[in-house]
Amino acid sequence: MSASNVGKGIDRIDARLKVTGKAVFPAETGVANVAHAVVVTSTIARGRITTFDAREAERAPGVLSVMSHLNAPKLPGIDKKTSPNDRAHQLFQDDAVRFNDQPIAVVVADTLERARHAARLVVVRYAGSASTVDMTAELPRAYKPATSRFELDSNRGDREAGLAAAKVRVEQTYTTPTEHHNPMEPHAAIAIWHAGDRATLYVTTQGIFAVRDRFALLFGIPKENVRVISHYVGGGFGCKGSPWSYIAMAAMAAKLTGRGVKLVLSRQQMFSLVGHRSHTVQKVALGADANGKLTVIAHDVISATSRVDEFVEPAALQTRKLYACPNVSTSHRLVRLDIPTPTFTRAPGEAPGTFALESAMDELAYALGLDPIELRLRNYADEDPDEKKPWSSKSLRDCYRRGAEQFGWSRRTAAPRSMRDGRWLVGWGMATATYPAHQRAASAIARVRADGSALVQAGSQDIGTGTYTIMTQIAADALTLPLDQVRFELGDTALPETPNSGGSSTAASVGSAVKMAGLAVRKKLAEAAAADPRSPLHGLALDAIDAADGALFAKADRARRDPFAAIVARSGGREIVAKVDNREKADRKRYATHSFGAQFAEVKVDEELGVVRVSRFVGAFAAGTILNAKTAASQLQGGIIWGIGLALHEHTWRDERSGRIATRDLADYHVPVHADVPRIEIVTVDEVDPYVNEVGAKGVGEIGITGVGAAIANAVYHATGRRIRDLPITPDKLL
Ligand code: MOS
Repeated sequence: MSASNVGKGIDRIDARLKVTGKAVFPAETGVANVAHAVVVTSTIARGRITTFDAREAERAPGVLSVMSHLNAPKLPGIDKKTSPNDRAHQLFQDDAVRFNDQPIAVVVADTLERARHAARLVVVRYAGSASTVDMTAELPRAYKPATSRFELDSNRGDREAGLAAAKVRVEQTYTTPTEHHNPMEPHAAIAIWHAGDRATLYVTTQGIFAVRDRFALLFGIPKENVRVISHYVGGGFGCKGSPWSYIAMAAMAAKLTGRGVKLVLSRQQMFSLVGHRSHTVQKVALGADANGKLTVIAHDVISATSRVDEFVEPAALQTRKLYACPNVSTSHRLVRLDIPTPTFTRAPGEAPGTFALESAMDELAYALGLDPIELRLRNYADEDPDEKKPWSSKSLRDCYRRGAEQFGWSRRTAAPRSMRDGRWLVGWGMATATYPAHQRAASAIARVRADGSALVQAGSQDIGTGTYTIMTQIAADALTLPLDQVRFELGDTALPETPNSGGSSTAASVGSAVKMAGLAVRKKLAEAAAADPRSPLHGLALDAIDAADGALFAKADRARRDPFAAIVARSGGREIVAKVDNREKADRKRYATHSFGAQFAEVKVDEELGVVRVSRFVGAFAAGTILNAKTAASQLQGGIIWGIGLALHEHTWRDERSGRIATRDLADYHVPVHADVPRIEIVTVDEVDPYVNEVGAKGVGEIGITGVGAAIANAVYHATGRRIRDLPITPDKLL
């Protein structure tokens, strides 16, 4: 495959459509006679609904239906899940309230305004029971869940012996708060029923097939009866990774009213209906000998889940793999609170987990009197120490070196409070970044048409990351076509099946399928040409034929050339098609597959006010093939910006008496704004990985946020001598 397109920082294929408003996001889909649904939510955290009076709401102008536990359709699959990753649904099947802001009714009207008005007229009374949202108070009741999608505990070597052997120890507790995703586009669904229990859903989601499958299960219909369409998604970050209750609500309301129903969550409702990042309490113990070789790493995580479901924040997974150390033990436990269920949030696990581990590593470096990069190099894991496998590729040393050079790390004076800029204390901190490189089975179809151009399709979804663009680049190179001769389509379950866009895996999974489909259709073209007496390539063996510039040619004689268009024309059909069901490479399992990076932060701290400004940031990453330099840099910068939020701003506050979230909008829930974001320099280290997948790309969606919390906290320590182990680092904690 020539690489004339892959890697280039080309603009997004859909950029013009998006900035001109021509990209139709799911909620904007034109659906005739659509009705509007508004969700009514509970105002207590736990108890039962004793009175539900919808009479006034039902009499309000334009109201078509008020759906509650009193009249909601019963759902045969309410307790079923398609995967352990699914979240339990709240769909009016009983009168129980299990968290504050839980859906208890849906009001449907002919306009959004009328539905919103009527939603305020619903009268609800409750019998409340005692509830708690205080994680600290529940810590003594932490428990080990019976099932989990990953191994909850790990033990390598002997933790106690490792502690005993240590010359220097760090044993600390690090905490991270509940956080929320806040994509720009709110969650939204339009549900339409057709004759014969068939449904079309326009949904903003990271997983059209997951929505389809869960929906079919809920309603007890075959999945072939459900079509999910999601052409554009305005940010996902994990909260659009599960088929949440609101999608089914739209469809239930559509059943009740006999209309297509549109349901868009308000920003406030996105704080309780579609998950959050778990509150975590993490104990880390590190020990090292006098030379800075780690003798023990222990990382014990407790995170908070809901009463109704279990989501474990996998915050110690990276700790099993990041450093060479003979004695490593990790654990994950849960506490139950009267809150909604948490979910995947950009680098679930690694984002809070690297804050704890990489802060502790910085503390250890100071205790040893070692440079923090030097400490990491002395404990560099040349193979995966957990699974004892070679890395498919690992360029972390280069990340440390290149990042340090770019940042100017060698000019750092190690002592806390030793660098100043006028009245500002200056701090430089660093941390390691890491994220697994996943690949899942994916299918794609490539069609070469009579004009020699190609249409390539895969279900998938573009959650704003640039999937349309990189898939077009991959397909163009596989087919030796210029970009404008390739059209890539996605976002429809009528197209070949693909996995969720989560775990930074779309580039690897769908990209590999797209490449293989492109190569497969080239093979079909070659077969057609070789078999056709009218072709200049007639009679050639397939391996004697190659492709360039939209034509096949004989390797031995480039003048023997047969354009794709000519081959399709002679085939008698409109197109030549190949579909590929791609699975991970056979030899991939022999390797551990991870991306790595090094994060460098400069902070300036106003000692009198406790204000922390991130004034400079450098992130150096090695993630295999970078498919598009521009969209990859945007992804990595976006991750770092969210990392600034994690370090300094973001914190979901719940009122402890009512269990209600107090920070339910972007005024009260603080995310970094432009004034909070400095120049961010992204360095990508060249890395060729022949094992990880067919496109060699490890994914860049999540690694950007990992390590950022620690790099900033470590910089704050360097600036001030104050070690803040509880995020976010707000001014009050520095005064
Ligand atoms: Mo990402 S949090 O795996 O959607």
